[in-house]
Amino acid sequence: MPTGPDRSARREDGSQIPIGAAGTEAVSDPYHNEAARAPKNEFDASLRPPDFSEFCGQAKVKERLMLMVEAAKQRGDALDHVLLCGPPGLGKTTLAHILSQAFGSQIHCTSGPQIEKAGDLAGILTNLQYGDFLFIDEIHRLHPAIEEYLYPAMEDYKLDIIIDQGPNARSITLTLPKFTLVGATTRAGMLTAPLRSRFGMTNRLDYYTARELVTIITRSAGILHVPILESGAMEIASRSRGTPRIANNLLRWVRDFAQVRANNEISQPVADEALHMLDIDQDGLDEMDKRILEALVYKFGGGPVGVGSLAVAVGEDESTIEDVYEPYLILQGYLKRTPRGRVAMPVAFRKLGAAIPKDLQTELF
Ligand SMILES: Nc1ncnc2c1ncn2[C@@H]1O[C@H](COP(=O)(O)OP(=O)(O)O)[C@@H](O)[C@H]1O
Ligand SMILES: [Mg+2]
Repeated sequence: MPTGPDRSARREDGSQIPIGAAGTEAVSDPYHNEAARAPKNEFDASLRPPDFSEFCGQAKVKERLMLMVEAAKQRGDALDHVLLCGPPGLGKTTLAHILSQAFGSQIHCTSGPQIEKAGDLAGILTNLQYGDFLFIDEIHRLHPAIEEYLYPAMEDYKLDIIIDQGPNARSITLTLPKFTLVGATTRAGMLTAPLRSRFGMTNRLDYYTARELVTIITRSAGILHVPILESGAMEIASRSRGTPRIANNLLRWVRDFAQVRANNEISQPVADEALHMLDIDQDGLDEMDKRILEALVYKFGGGPVGVGSLAVAVGEDESTIEDVYEPYLILQGYLKRTPRGRVAMPVAFRKLGAAIPKDLQTELF
């Protein structure tokens, strides 16, 4: 690591971005931030599969990653950079940890919004050891100027920084140890082409089948020592929007319900009653899903309507609608994204018991 009172990172245009005195807290280093490294909550952490064997579903992705690990291990090389995409709660963070575990590497975790200055990134990169993993969550939210530092770092394991100030200022190129960048994003489309192209492999995670979710729920129930019947697990699975995180959260709620209102055991009727109390319907749609569909159908006559207007109408953040709600509604055929905006599909009208407008019918079929 270079020393000097005023190390700075350099922007593409040559201007300096100070990163503070070497070895002091002035170097803002998100990877040392305990909060960032700790799992969001303990419940999540205890249920997180520790290795590939306990990671259920995503067979293709798993197979590819396992092969990649084996090949790199055989060559004695560092693992190539990996990008993981997909809606929240499908296992991106989990896979990043499993990968580093399988490879026997240290993992350092940060996220796009946490890296505010190029200096933050320099601090993180210069702390890596050979073969280490750097996990950047929400990588699509990295500042474009910071992204540019990543390119040579990912490609050639090099980082240009400026040491000293004034007449003594000089640029040096640091050689970084070979490391593996694992990026996670809910929006692969928002990643710039140059960044995307620097990942050796891109993996898209899909929603889980109800069968896979039953396996996940049963495993989680075992860890939590909750008695659960197959029919109870199935009921929770079919209402979990294909998402393990939701499945685990619903399980936690149903467990509480079973403890207080039933005999502790999660059966189908118990799960059904518990989820009904949470306003989660038979199709797994919650209050916000229904508000979105109602706004689209009643307020905007089925669309097309821009996501911004839709967000205002339902009082939810635009990006949350795009990342969290829409993908599942689209998958289930309730709505469609068109160049002119969001359009309600006949299933949505049927769900709300509304008549499908004639013009929409001809437009859609
Ligand atoms: N394939 C899986 N098998 C079992 N549990 C899973 C799986 N994928 C995710 N989970 C569970 O769901 C939770 C959320 O996963 P996470 O990796 O944090 O999702 P993401 O990073 O994609 O938002 C984890 O804590 C884990 O318990
Ligand atoms: Mg995550």
